[in-house]
Amino acid sequence: MNSDSMFLHRSEFGDPQCAGNVLSLVEAKVLLDDWVKNERLKVHMKQVAHLMKSYAGIKGYSEDIQHQWYLAGLLHDADWDQWPEQHCRKIIGELEDRKIDPQIIRAIASHGPRYFGVEPISEMDKMLYAFDELSGFVHAYSLMRPEGYAGMEIKGVKKRLKDKTFAAQVSREDIADASEKAGISVEELIQFVISNQANADLN
Ligand SMILES: [Fe+2]
Repeated sequence: MNSDSMFLHRSEFGDPQCAGNVLSLVEAKVLLDDWVKNERLKVHMKQVAHLMKSYAGIKGYSEDIQHQWYLAGLLHDADWDQWPEQHCRKIIGELEDRKIDPQIIRAIASHGPRYFGVEPISEMDKMLYAFDELSGFVHAYSLMRPEGYAGMEIKGVKKRLKDKTFAAQVSREDIADASEKAGISVEELIQFVISNQANADLN
């Protein structure tokens, strides 16, 4: 992927007057099913959505805010399957057209700062960035373990992170950078993913 070509060259997303506007769960899943045919990618987005919602839940945020976090996770890669050359731009445009809360759109816009040139600022931005690569990595690890997620330990995940040939497409650099930006250690993030990801609703 040529990162420069994906830069969004924007810093404002959505309309502040649309604060609080969301897609319902059904609307979001219709969009997902419509745009994403790749089942693995759908699983990834549902897992990230689940992590986002779980994290907002343990932070004590309201159900409405948890749903916003969920939507950011669920839709962050929605355009990747059919429009990789418009990745991020297309889903941002769609959510702006549908007058969705600017914070959700901004979180999606900043989920890959190296690619899209948008810094994660809010807690939701930072956690989406932090969970994105790690979620996929831990899932890849679970698929090679006969026990799946059961009994998975932080040290096992860390060992695989050091092995550059394992899930080689996952950027270790982004995982470290996201952890630093979120102010949460990689170990803590790994533990959160291990503890929560297996329960994600993949329907
Ligand atoms: Fe992703």
